[in-house]
Amino acid sequence: MSGHRRPLQAANWKMHLLRRDVESYCRAFAGLGEKLEEIVVFPSFPLLPILTAAVEEHGVPVEVGAQDLHHEEGGAFTGDVSALQIRDSGALWALCGHSERRQLHGEDDALIAAKVARAAGAGLTPVLCIGESLEARQGGQTEAIVSGQLDAVLGDTAPRSLVVAYEPVWAIGTGATATPELAQETHAFLRRRLAHWLGEAGAEATRILYGGSVKPTNCEALIEQPDIDGFLIGGASLDPGSFLDIIQRCRRQS
Ligand code: PGA
Repeated sequence: MSGHRRPLQAANWKMHLLRRDVESYCRAFAGLGEKLEEIVVFPSFPLLPILTAAVEEHGVPVEVGAQDLHHEEGGAFTGDVSALQIRDSGALWALCGHSERRQLHGEDDALIAAKVARAAGAGLTPVLCIGESLEARQGGQTEAIVSGQLDAVLGDTAPRSLVVAYEPVWAIGTGATATPELAQETHAFLRRRLAHWLGEAGAEATRILYGGSVKPTNCEALIEQPDIDGFLIGGASLDPGSFLDIIQRCRRQS
């Protein structure tokens, strides 16, 4: 974590939790006090307006984001959700290109670039998720893969505020976290690549999150790294106690 970028801690609930969990989640955050970092929770679509109303009611320093969006503005797309509808729910953020969307829904870089542009156009801050597979890592292809994923978006559109989440596919939900050194190496590489598109100042201002089996026991060593600006947390964010524990531990490192 570096002093000149505001830390960002994000919870990706994936297809978990229900309306009844929202209340207790918000209550847990009531004791957090001063807003020292940005905290964003990404629930499933039906919970977006429920969570935005609950954070307001409880006055907790949490913002809300969607896990995906459709790349078109609107139209006959049964089952899909538009950026405007997400914004209308009170959400301010959107994940784009999570590896589960890339792998399980066949999303490619061109589609993800369109989603990033659509999200930004609707006033949502896009969180672009990138990361290599185990085969790519073992084959020495990590930099080629992640820079390709980044270039596909930034070559097409460079939204004013963009967050990047580096999530090695082999570390997501597996319990296998990248070592702090390995994560730092890739984050530093990504920041250099960002500078190519955004300039030095733009790259220095852009938050790069790490994701992949982050938990209270490994977060401190990761957040110490200068180019890791926060986390995108799946499993460990479902329990507000462990998400809060991670946030507090990171605060102590700063
Ligand atoms: P995990 O998920 O923390 O459960 O590995 C992270 C993510 O997929 O964003």
